[in-house]
Amino acid sequence: RVRFKNALPATNETNILGFRKNVTNLHTHGWHVSPSGNADNIFLHFEPGEEFLFEYDTSKQEAGTLNWYHPHVHGLVAEQLWGGLAGALVVEDSYDVLSDYETHVLVLKDISLSGSEPASHSRSDFMRGKEGDIVMVNGQVNPVLPMRPGQVQRWRIVNTSTARYYKLSLENHSMYLVGTDANLLDKPYPLTEILVTPGERIDVLVRADQPSGRYKLTSLPYSRGGNNVQTVTLLTVSYEGNSVVEAVPSIINPDAERPAIDTANLQQRSLVLQMRMGRGLINGHDFEVDPYVIDSEVDTYEIWRIVNRSMMDHPFHQHTNPALILRINGGDPDYASLYTSIPGWKDTINVPRMGSVEMLVPVRDFTGRTVYHCHIVEHEDIGMMGIWEFM
Ligand code: CU
Ligand code: CU
Ligand code: CU
Repeated sequence: RVRFKNALPATNETNILGFRKNVTNLHTHGWHVSPSGNADNIFLHFEPGEEFLFEYDTSKQEAGTLNWYHPHVHGLVAEQLWGGLAGALVVEDSYDVLSDYETHVLVLKDISLSGSEPASHSRSDFMRGKEGDIVMVNGQVNPVLPMRPGQVQRWRIVNTSTARYYKLSLENHSMYLVGTDANLLDKPYPLTEILVTPGERIDVLVRADQPSGRYKLTSLPYSRGGNNVQTVTLLTVSYEGNSVVEAVPSIINPDAERPAIDTANLQQRSLVLQMRMGRGLINGHDFEVDPYVIDSEVDTYEIWRIVNRSMMDHPFHQHTNPALILRINGGDPDYASLYTSIPGWKDTINVPRMGSVEMLVPVRDFTGRTVYHCHIVEHEDIGMMGIWEFM
């Protein structure tokens, strides 16, 4: 149960898109819970001063995952998230293989300030996706994270930025991927770099196996189209204290697998993402005018092909049911080969510009209606969102 209150100040002001400010709500991004009633129902809207009791039955939610919450009122999401309305939701592990490692939840977020206020969104910010010049981990700029020599730490990382992509790299160190958006993996996968787009989460182990010193966690240049391509330091690891002997385990989650499903007779869908005349479209439909609607039958699998016909990448997010990534055409080759080979389920996946993603979507457990959209949330606010009904 979550007792919710919209404590934003009452106002009659509208934003540049014409939506009355400070109406808000709550979305539990990644939770496999009901999208209806008083659960993860993003169609509920709350005026300033209103209170509500949310109730979530999390019994079907996968253990060991990092999810997050943020507002989801169409037309207002980008500015409210940009201003900082978001936080992490940690689901505890059901295995104890990772329980002894020192664990940090790292919330990535950027912002620009105008005085002491979040800088405002322009029309072109809604087209490009707004990025800030201040990049933070847990609200701090380049914090120091101490590690003992030889120590293994678990970092559970979420990108809560509205539009900024992070291509993470820890100087001179490997990162061992043990979890994705929706589950823990069968075993650790060693990586030197990994792209984390808005809404995505990664769970990694890091081992302090280098000479004593300081090492930067950076975001490397990545061109998503429309962004400034640069290297940014996120935090600094500092080797401190007595050395310990810790190892990366060889098995994490024995239940993780890529299911062998005959895809020939499954419902196939195609979703085409486009930007046109200052609006974001899915299959030619603008959410505000005439949203594209998918009707899915509960207890079936579907194949979705997300096609990007624009000159910028779009991180595609579907609520309620995470998917298995089958194919990625275009974009970062390491990202594509990783997510099309590991048994990791995803609720957010980058769709490269002029590229595509094919995924296996299980429709499970809940009836009702929810949404899918681009998680550059500025694009969601200008229409790149559709309705998904479970029946
Ligand atoms: Cu989200
Ligand atoms: Cu987008
Ligand atoms: Cu959403």
